[in-house]
Amino acid sequence: MAETSTTEPARRIAGTNQLLCCKSIDKLISEADRPEHRLRKTLGPWSLTALGIGAIIGSGIFVLTGTAAAGEHFEAPSVLHAQVLDLVLNFLRTGSTAGALMHGRPAAGPSIAISFILVAIACSFAGLCYAELASMIPIAGSAYTYSYATLGEIFAWIIGWDLILEYVVSNVAVAVGFSGYSKAQLAAFGIHLPDKWSSPVWAAGSWTGAYFNLPGFLIVFVLTLLLVRGVRESAEANNVMVTIKIGAILTFLIVGGMLVNKANWVPFAPSGFAGIVTGGAIVFFTYIGFDSVSTAAEECEKPQRDLPFGIIASLVVCTLLYVGVAVVLLGMLKYTTFVSGEAAEAPVAYALKVLGAHPIFRSIIILGALMGMISSILVFQYGQARIWYAMSRDGLLPKLFSAVHPKFKTPHWSTWIACFAVGIPAGLVDIGDAADLSNIGTLFAFVLVSLGVILLRRKQPDRLRAFRVPLVPWFPLISVVLCGGLMTGLTLITWVRFVVWLAIGLAIYFLYSRRHSEFARS
Ligand code: ALA
Repeated sequence: MAETSTTEPARRIAGTNQLLCCKSIDKLISEADRPEHRLRKTLGPWSLTALGIGAIIGSGIFVLTGTAAAGEHFEAPSVLHAQVLDLVLNFLRTGSTAGALMHGRPAAGPSIAISFILVAIACSFAGLCYAELASMIPIAGSAYTYSYATLGEIFAWIIGWDLILEYVVSNVAVAVGFSGYSKAQLAAFGIHLPDKWSSPVWAAGSWTGAYFNLPGFLIVFVLTLLLVRGVRESAEANNVMVTIKIGAILTFLIVGGMLVNKANWVPFAPSGFAGIVTGGAIVFFTYIGFDSVSTAAEECEKPQRDLPFGIIASLVVCTLLYVGVAVVLLGMLKYTTFVSGEAAEAPVAYALKVLGAHPIFRSIIILGALMGMISSILVFQYGQARIWYAMSRDGLLPKLFSAVHPKFKTPHWSTWIACFAVGIPAGLVDIGDAADLSNIGTLFAFVLVSLGVILLRRKQPDRLRAFRVPLVPWFPLISVVLCGGLMTGLTLITWVRFVVWLAIGLAIYFLYSRRHSEFARS
């Protein structure tokens, strides 16, 4: 693996295998360390925790808890609807996949609470690996930058392409969730949006008869107008959002807690371990975003102490809230209720409505949920445009992606492209499909980042790391196994879509990016 350094220009390396060419870490750091680029080191452990909670809590907890608990059932059996773990286990046991469940995902039921805990553990290990890379290459950015500096161009491309699933596709899911909740809130005010213009066009493997999910598209469009003008959440705005989100969840725990009927908690795990793993693979979505804490390494007062604290503390707070929501929601109504329709689109609002909670409480919770979704969309749209901007500056994407608006100084083309890349699918698909694809892409990025830590400890053992993962290679390996295990909880169709996505990415790389990259040009 070749690395350019400040004294060794990139062109000397271009003759070696371009696929494994790395950007110089020293150069990246020295560029970022120039006074005009230097970020202020102001973040302490608590602000990092707030940052993490702000990025983590979006629509997932308010939408996916119900569907993950209810499972999914398709009338026509197909191997594509089978869970990969189930297929593998059946194959190992009987030499064929005949015994696998081909009608969709098994229901987790109330045991979804256990899934939340397992996923939080997996995320903690992956989070520590992110923290090491971020503190070693303390450049504001993401896994794309780390891998370009450490693993080589082809890995950087794969991660950059894969991150589109984490950012764009997860925002599709959040925008669909926004649509479900805004519809519920407007209905509470007596305004009923026509279903044909406010529901997914394609859901659970069939056409629904709807034309377009307009609220999902509109929210992304409006937020893009703000982003192009350079509006970004400030730390203060983030703290306000975090308070509102936590307030909404706590209100739900108290109000919903009074409406619990313990009989609904039985059976606790209707599909046993398979249900818990599948549930985990779905609700993994609710934790996406915690890796953003690690990207703040450059602005930390004491990265070795504060980064792991921020990551673990934000995961602990969110896990407590999530487990609470799962226990209360699945105590309010039987898990089978959330399989489709309004109960699946906005389960928290639905449960409060059918059990007759006071409209004031319903509105507080729905508005809190909507706020959470808006801040989540804003952060991810912002992040996606910046990753495309960086990839375009490196020559891996056309120059258009790094064009900066003459007046607002924002990457306006990237921001608008991200708008339509999210808004149009958000008008068409349902939340489950989008969340699954986003989960598999993000889990794959976590696996690569964890492997990257092990590799770099060998390749560059002496490089300064402000934060070091304990017990390498064991902790990164645990992360690989747990994240890989969660990937097997997803259905075969999700794997097929993911492989097709990567294949399209590689085709673009070999047809365009490889020829235009910084290394090819030099
Ligand atoms: N974790 C974010 C959410 O739940 C993506 O919406």
